Amino acid sequence: MTRIPMQISRFRADDVTAVAALYGRAVRIGARQAYPRKALLAWARPRLSMRFFRNRMLPTWTFVATVPGGGATRQRFPGAGQGGSLGHGGEVVLGFAEIMQDGHVRMLFTDPAATRSGIASRLLVHALDHARSHGITSFTTDASRLSRPVFARAGFRPMGHRLRAVAGARLLTTRMVLRPGRHAV
Ligand SMILES: CC(C)(COP(=O)(O)OP(=O)(O)OC[C@H]1O[C@@H](n2cnc3c(N)ncnc32)[C@H](O)[C@@H]1OP(=O)(O)O)[C@@H](O)C(=O)NCCC(=O)NCCS
Repeated sequence: MTRIPMQISRFRADDVTAVAALYGRAVRIGARQAYPRKALLAWARPRLSMRFFRNRMLPTWTFVATVPGGGATRQRFPGAGQGGSLGHGGEVVLGFAEIMQDGHVRMLFTDPAATRSGIASRLLVHALDHARSHGITSFTTDASRLSRPVFARAGFRPMGHRLRAVAGARLLTTRMVLRPGRHAV
């Protein structure tokens, strides 16, 4: 895996278009191999708006992973940033992570053009470190089938599954927990 020279920074209001577009792409393209498309879209629909992201993410600890816009990025990650304007500073947003102030990792998404390059793992480590610096020591998440290995590598352990019935299909997530003192593998 080639390490991408990306920057991780705190989500700002002018990232909202890029983050909402990335979320839509990750749901429509990135997650379709893990979940039935119809159920996925039904589950994601209430979140597919800029207002949702603006209202929800400004008060939480949300971080974006960005690379400079331009030809090199378009060539390396074809389609990344599509459907949304660029993030703050004109950069392309390749991923984002949201962690609540009770230690729950609520969102972790990478643009489908840039998956399996370590972006989600680096965002997750960054978000956990930030939360730890505010005194949070235990973490939880409801991981998708695709994100489970990312959380496992950060030291999270599975604690059981949750099945949600959506649009005639069942969406499986795994409750995972990271206890104090556990380290990334
Ligand atoms: C899950 C997700 C966040 C991973 O992002 P990422 O930047 O690719 O993650 P990393 O590069 O840090 O880690 C990649 C690991 O995740 C797993 N993984 C990610 N995408 C995968 C895929 N399409 N098929 C199989 N495994 C996959 C693998 O274990 C992979 O490790 P490997 O490449 O060494 O085999 C991203 O695929 C995504 O946004 N998916 C759609 C939405 C989703 O499921 N979000 C999680 C909600 S909690």
